[in-house]
Amino acid sequence: MTLLRQGLHQMDKCALPMRNIPFNKPSIVGCELDNLLKAVDLGQLSGDGKFTRECNRRISEMTGGATALITHSCTAALEMAALLCDLAPGDEVIMPSFTFVSTANAVALRGAVPVFVDIDRATLNISPEAAARAVTARTKAIFAVHYAGFPAAMDRLAETARDHGLLLVEDAAQALGSTLNGRPAGSLGDMAAFSFHETKNIISGEGGALTLTRPELVERAEIIREKGTNRSRFLRGQVDKYTWVDLGSSMLPGELIAAFLAGQLDHADAIRDRRLAIFDRYATGFADLEDAGRVGLPHAAQGVTGNGHMFYLLLRDIDDRDAFIAHMRNAGIVTPFHYVPLHSAPAGLRYGRADGALPVTDDISARLARLPMFWALEDSAVDEIIATARTWLLQN
Ligand SMILES: Cc1ncc(COP(=O)(O)O)c(C=O)c1O
Repeated sequence: MTLLRQGLHQMDKCALPMRNIPFNKPSIVGCELDNLLKAVDLGQLSGDGKFTRECNRRISEMTGGATALITHSCTAALEMAALLCDLAPGDEVIMPSFTFVSTANAVALRGAVPVFVDIDRATLNISPEAAARAVTARTKAIFAVHYAGFPAAMDRLAETARDHGLLLVEDAAQALGSTLNGRPAGSLGDMAAFSFHETKNIISGEGGALTLTRPELVERAEIIREKGTNRSRFLRGQVDKYTWVDLGSSMLPGELIAAFLAGQLDHADAIRDRRLAIFDRYATGFADLEDAGRVGLPHAAQGVTGNGHMFYLLLRDIDDRDAFIAHMRNAGIVTPFHYVPLHSAPAGLRYGRADGALPVTDDISARLARLPMFWALEDSAVDEIIATARTWLLQN
């Protein structure tokens, strides 16, 4: 009854005409455009120039001193990681089914088998117990995803990796700037892949980075990224000509992308702080509905600091979720669902296998809707989103 009264009160507020609020909107936050002109003036638009070195240095600082190599996407960084794991046909890599296709594609492209395990209900990240149970004699690596920017339970995953001699890769596409027990994403495994796609916190349109915490992997990573050649050593004057020495591809972005990215990285703290403020505003705005059992909200696990990458609501079931999304869309607000589980996707069935049933993945994937989150989203718009959502949640 109290909830209904609150709902009617909120409905009054919602009688106001709605603006269109997208889910995401890329913004210029600093000197990205000046940097583009500088890159042209410097006379090098191909990769690995001044701006690339600057981005690598900054990302290294943000990941606790890991070696950073920017790439043209997180997808490319994951493919580099799969090559560095030396995956061969028949090898297995354990990963959550609740992830983007690139995590699995990187493995399947090497002929190896993505082995999908369930997520933890509290964190939506790979369940460390399920990962440990899925290890076989063919397992080569664990790819952990930091969903919504919240680092997975890396300490327990690292234990499993250590016990079985596996490599541990962070799919940190969403997690730049997040920490676990004070340690940043990118320092929590052997390698990490980051995304600077326009939907992420720090953007360059398309873009990514691979970070490496094991020095012995760095030279090979440079070779893979430079089409399988030792061009990086040549550019440092360490060899007098460069040649094809290993498998590789063209994974490096041009300097225009790096120049834009450097402008964003200058403001990484401000971007994270603004997103965290939006996250907190949403969390406060829905707290009573969570207490009343109407919705589920994201919460950082013990020892985790997020980066405000995403705010989501967990609705009752798929019908409730789809009706919620439709209601928000009718009010001009885009609130998309997220991953369709990979273990039941056509390519997941062809190239991977599920380690038993994945009930939490199936359940969460059917109930989740993401709320708008971007740098230029004003508090007044956040309040409109909350009010519009509350109206519906209280009536349904
Ligand atoms: C978990 C995860 N991994 C990988 C990617 C791929 O990133 P990119 O678009 O930079 O290749 C995404 C993109 O959203 C993602 O969410």
